[in-house]
Amino acid sequence: MAYETRGAKNISQTPGQTPGLQISRALLRWYDANARVLPWRIGPHQRKAGHQPDPYAVWLSEIMLQQTTVATVVTRYGAFLTRWPDVAAMAAAELDDVLGEWAGLGYYARARNLHKCAGAVMREHGGDFPDTEDALKALPGIGDYTAAAIAAIAFDRPAVVVDGNIERIVARLYAIDAPLPGAKTLIKERAGAIWPQQRSGDFAQGLMDLGAGVCKPRAPNCPACPLAGDCAAQRLGRMEDFPVKPAKKPKPSRKGAVFALVNGKGEFLFERRPEKGLLGGMFGLPGNPWAEKPGKAMTDAPATAKWRCIGAVTHIFTHFHLTLDVYVGKAPKGFRRGREQQWIAPKHARLPTVMKKAVDLALTTKEFEK
Ligand code: ADE
Repeated sequence: MAYETRGAKNISQTPGQTPGLQISRALLRWYDANARVLPWRIGPHQRKAGHQPDPYAVWLSEIMLQQTTVATVVTRYGAFLTRWPDVAAMAAAELDDVLGEWAGLGYYARARNLHKCAGAVMREHGGDFPDTEDALKALPGIGDYTAAAIAAIAFDRPAVVVDGNIERIVARLYAIDAPLPGAKTLIKERAGAIWPQQRSGDFAQGLMDLGAGVCKPRAPNCPACPLAGDCAAQRLGRMEDFPVKPAKKPKPSRKGAVFALVNGKGEFLFERRPEKGLLGGMFGLPGNPWAEKPGKAMTDAPATAKWRCIGAVTHIFTHFHLTLDVYVGKAPKGFRRGREQQWIAPKHARLPTVMKKAVDLALTTKEFEK
């Protein structure tokens, strides 16, 4: 993406303005010229022409963006909005359909909360999202950050929105040398001092865009930055030193096994995972619990069959690395599935990524050749 450089003058030299006001004006000017076009966004020119954001669409995008990249959400957001165009439709949806549409996006509690929150907005707010941070925070799945983002973007409340991109920009602007996460309070305070009373939503989105395209974690493009003249890290030539990260702990490893049982129609036996816990409520292959030292895999096999271990798949979750051995086998005659189990053709199963990896591996074996 090309960013113009004319905004990169030293904004400290403009006389008669408080630094905060100068910063917000420079950033908003830059956003007007450089805003990304995103499917959930009402851009600055549309805003000026009087278009108002739909709070439902803002909420939906913010929940999807909580732990998923913009690039991924861009490819998935439209399907959600088409299927459930408003909060009443989402509230009336089957939870299973929402979970299915969410497959592959990770952090599945978000999908449950999406459904729960839509119900709460219908019941408790007559179908209109509340417009204050406090009232938003009282809804399922909406924490401090998301409440601020919705209040700012949907309602232009001067709520201070601090995501990872904004954290980086502010830490650099003020060369904040306290390490994260302890520095978060100070970063929010500093962000609050430059936050404008007007165009709060555009300001938040402008900072997000600046962080994504210019003030990047590595090799920031300072000549293109409208705030470069006021940036302490840039003056020090130490942009990449901020924000200061805490010492990294290595992620622990867990192991487990999954069983791909196939029937005569080429369908796999899938099992709904327990509601609570990782991948809660999603379908997956039956298997044993994931642990540092897992027990005997066969104890948890869903049937007595000629099981063959065909390899392993790995997946990185936030807090641990997972390796799953993948076993394949044919369903024995007279096999009866359990209540939480279903036979599903693999191409029709909506699965979390780690389970999709295991299924894809299983599909490469002779047991599943027609
Ligand atoms: N990340 C989180 N919320 C976002 C938004 N509204 N626009 C771009 N990136 C985001």
